[in-house]
Amino acid sequence: MIGSSPILGEQRYGRGLEDLVAGDTAISDIDGSAGRLLYRGYPIEDLVGQVSFEETAYLVLFGEMPDDTQLEDWSAELRRWRMPPEAALESLQRIPEHAHPLAQFRTMMTVAACHIPEPENTELDAQWRRPARILSWTAALAACAIRHLEGVDPVAPRDDLGYAANFLYQATARTPTAEETAAFEASLVVQAEHGLHAAAFAALVVISTGADLGSAVLAGMGALSGARHGGANQLCFQMLERLEGPEEARLWAREALVRGHRFPGFGHRVYKCPDPRVRALEPYAEALLEASGNERLWRTYLALREEIEAALGGKGIFANVDSITGLIYHPIGLPVSAFPIPFCLAIQTGWMAHCLEYLPDGKVIAPGAVYIDPSFQF
Ligand code: COA
Repeated sequence: MIGSSPILGEQRYGRGLEDLVAGDTAISDIDGSAGRLLYRGYPIEDLVGQVSFEETAYLVLFGEMPDDTQLEDWSAELRRWRMPPEAALESLQRIPEHAHPLAQFRTMMTVAACHIPEPENTELDAQWRRPARILSWTAALAACAIRHLEGVDPVAPRDDLGYAANFLYQATARTPTAEETAAFEASLVVQAEHGLHAAAFAALVVISTGADLGSAVLAGMGALSGARHGGANQLCFQMLERLEGPEEARLWAREALVRGHRFPGFGHRVYKCPDPRVRALEPYAEALLEASGNERLWRTYLALREEIEAALGGKGIFANVDSITGLIYHPIGLPVSAFPIPFCLAIQTGWMAHCLEYLPDGKVIAPGAVYIDPSFQF
């Protein structure tokens, strides 16, 4: 319901807060009708393939591209926190095996967050000391959760590898190729920030209460896990995997469209045109799938996307970033049930940036609700 109502007068609200803004930001600029995404003024197309995830994270968090010295210091700070607390790693043994890998990862991070010094100190300078530790601990814990799926032990980090390559090394126990690293790095870069989406907003609500940055990130992780959010990349890949090839993809899509099926990896609250992150990642996915003998999967994806967009594009429904990232993660060897995890590693950067941007004079976020008397007749 938007607009004036007998109860709200001229106040506006919408279910899902659709069409409402919940804050202002200098971190990213998203144009959902032109399909443009800028981080701190840089279009993502100018960043992909040009800068590392470390540089992107610095840009998103600190507001400017690092110079050589700043990058060196920031990279060293990130490397410094590659060994999470032992208690967090051990906690994995106590989590039910059937729990979703993202839930296992989040639970380990809950334990790790308790080891961040002075958690009760929520002064701005203390909060600013936390992002590097969170980014690196989570990468190690994520890799550990992924290896746990196959019942294998964690792998120690390697100082000679950057954030993206080291995560892949720790998750798969093999040194990734240059092509794999470039593709995975690109996926981290384009997913590092996306405004006040549901998970970022969840993090912002938590930080606004005076909580610590670790708690805010954990809230974001919970919000991200849903099928309509970060869980969609796993579901989209599973949908693709069930299809034998492009022909079956077209037939199945037509039949599913008639049923009014909701396709994971398609549609977006903001983008009503092609998602720029999809355009940026498709060449990487195509190259990796071809190099790994998975051309059929690539053609299946293209056929499915074409059918769905031809039918629903007029309604503003196009492939979103969750349709394409699995086609990078899969040929690298990441297990499908773990696909939401790398998304989380990237996007938590934006959550932290929004929290730190909000903190200096941010009020507690506590919106009202309108009471609807069950006996009231409109
Ligand atoms: N497949 C088919 N139809 C879809 C659709 C999809 N993936 N996403 C939205 N629609 C349709 C709805 O059925 C609805 O149609 P109607 O107006 O005829 O009833 C219309 O588009 C609006 O849908 P709604 O759920 O109100 O849009 P929203 O802005 O609230 O939802 C998403 C945005 C992302 C939650 C939604 O597009 C979705 O569920 N996508 C699949 C999950 C996904 O990929 N999530 C990751 C997002 S990055």
